[in-house]
Amino acid sequence: MIRCIFPIALLIVSILAINPLWSKSMKKEQTLITLPAPNTTGAFPIEQTLLQRRSVRKYAEKALTIQEVSQLLWAAQGITSPRGLRTAPSAGALYPLETFVAIGNVEGIDPGIYHYNPEKHSLTQKITRDKRAELSEACLGQSYVAKAPLSLILTSVNYRIINQYGERGIQYIHMEVGHVGQNIALQAVALKCGTVMIGAFTDAKVHKLLNLDKEIVPLYIIPVGKVE
Ligand SMILES: Cc1cc2nc3c(=O)[nH]c(=O)nc-3n(C[C@H](O)[C@H](O)[C@H](O)COP(=O)(O)O)c2cc1C
Repeated sequence: MIRCIFPIALLIVSILAINPLWSKSMKKEQTLITLPAPNTTGAFPIEQTLLQRRSVRKYAEKALTIQEVSQLLWAAQGITSPRGLRTAPSAGALYPLETFVAIGNVEGIDPGIYHYNPEKHSLTQKITRDKRAELSEACLGQSYVAKAPLSLILTSVNYRIINQYGERGIQYIHMEVGHVGQNIALQAVALKCGTVMIGAFTDAKVHKLLNLDKEIVPLYIIPVGKVE
């Protein structure tokens, strides 16, 4: 009997392994996108980015490119030193923030929810559907969130910093997310994009639609799109 079951089991495993549908769904769950290297020699002066930064709530109906996504994420949390230090300061270099992106209209990246990995400068797909309309609803119906090609979602894992600094660590997280938000806003200007910082959203709805782990706190939502 056992002698008979073994070859059958082997046959089933082989069929599953070569079945394109099965391989595709396996691949989908683990989609990892290595982002192109960011540009670190842009010619846009910092004074011009400061002068031109404004909250922009209307975007052109134009896709962003994977290079622009790379640039925005690098500005947010990119690694800029061999010691692993990043573009934005962090109390005790503990890096409590995690960045997600809700993508809807980006050349070369399927719609969905992605998590940014600063060490690898890569994105891991978490959800394979366009969630922008739901995100807009979670932002009290702010319609520009549904229309922007993408939104960055800055979140924190509070225990990473509370373990070291106690309750004061919460203040540090709020200071840090401000630094990251401003980095994104200024990088957006240099890319000729517009953005607005969104603090008005329902935490529980964002938590649910991004399928976030229990300990992750959503802090800022930042839609980005080309200016018209
Ligand atoms: C913490 C914070 C939360 C904000 N939340 C929202 C928001 O939910 N929706 C929105 O449209 N703008 C939001 N803004 C943007 C402000 O309305 C905007 O910065 C202000 O009107 C000044 O305009 P400016 O950014 O063009 O200089 C927020 C800004 C900050 C700093």
